Amino acid sequence: MKILVTGGAGFIGSNFIRLYLSHHSDCEIVNLDKLTYAGNLENLRDVENDPRYSFVKGDICDSDVVGDVMQGVRAVVNFAAETHVDRSIGDPSGFLRTDIFGVHVLLEAAREHGVERFVQISTDEVYGVTTGEPFTEDAPMNPRNPYSASKAGGELLAHSYFTTYGFPVLITRGANNVGPNQYPEKVIPLFTTNAIEDKPLPLYGSGEQERDYTHVLDHCTGIECVMDGGEPGATYNIGAGNHMKNIDMARLILRELGKPEELIVHVEDREGHDFRYAIDSTKLRALGWEPSFDAEGAVLSAVRWYVENPGWWQPIKSGEFLEYYEKQYGKRLEEAGGTG
Ligand code: NAD
Ligand code: DAU
Repeated sequence: MKILVTGGAGFIGSNFIRLYLSHHSDCEIVNLDKLTYAGNLENLRDVENDPRYSFVKGDICDSDVVGDVMQGVRAVVNFAAETHVDRSIGDPSGFLRTDIFGVHVLLEAAREHGVERFVQISTDEVYGVTTGEPFTEDAPMNPRNPYSASKAGGELLAHSYFTTYGFPVLITRGANNVGPNQYPEKVIPLFTTNAIEDKPLPLYGSGEQERDYTHVLDHCTGIECVMDGGEPGATYNIGAGNHMKNIDMARLILRELGKPEELIVHVEDREGHDFRYAIDSTKLRALGWEPSFDAEGAVLSAVRWYVENPGWWQPIKSGEFLEYYEKQYGKRLEEAGGTG
């Protein structure tokens, strides 16, 4: 079984490749990744010499490259995307390109090559905010930032290939992932590594916002369940139900690291900040999926990984990252009385 994984050098894709290779001795995985700022081949050092694994550097928007790598592929799992909400607020254009047009290029090539399963990795952000019950898969979409709107576009297009051409597309909508190898622009690695360095934790607004912090390995076993047993044309939520407010998450990180709460600095809020995400994963549980981390377990296991792996994140927090950090947080921290 030859599988094309796109965006496999990123956070979730690399964890998925490792997990899938360990569970399926007979699979072959081709990883197509453009290696943007978020792609990092260090994430896959332990599998790079596995004869079942190969890497191709390329862009999912490039139909020539995509056509080449699609030869002999039976299943596609598309992780490749621009993924950070704050960057999408700064400049949406790259999000529209990869998260919508890139999906189109992949779908066309996959259909032409008779791919038997196409899994589009989407996000719970497409539902937008909820104040009530967790959303089931049939709830309407209400994406509210350029990232989630692009992801909604990508998955709608993917689903249209099922309804129009009968092409076997499956869609997953994952909650906020935490765990090893997450680029330190996302809140948990950012707060953890800042705290280790005694730098401020820039908490947006009140910090009362809530997320479902699901461990990346639980997300990956959910995707594996959908690949192996999901119904073509169907959409599956993947969230452990690990609801936590950002302020409580920040305090938990500081407590674990033995750092003072004074490191938390309330800064100007994210524009259009979605207050609460909550999804119902009953449909996936019916396929046999069970998450293995609760909220505190997921966050703390991630924190410990960053404590134990400074050699992974310290080189990343330089160069492009510092420019981004200054642009995103410099003025916010100054206005809030924190230092950069
Ligand atoms: P990430 O930013 O860590 O990695 C994205 C990867 O895609 C990188 O390796 C990057 O080089 C690659 N990439 C970007 N543009 C590309 C292009 N045009 N062609 C080829 N490769 C390209 O992202 P992540 O957090 O691992 O997210 C992976 C997927 O899961 C995304 O589709 C995201 O929308 C989705 N998702 C993420 C979360 C989360 O909490 N991180 C939750 C739900 C869904
Ligand atoms: O819900 C799934 C989504 O989770 C994925 O689709 C996205 O790719 C992923 O980036 C993530 O989006 P969020 O915007 O929820 O994640 P982020 O880590 O950026 O922020 C999590 C929460 O923390 C959110 O309420 C904003 C807040 N936050 C974030 C940052 C970066 C802060 O308070 N301060 C920060 O500096």
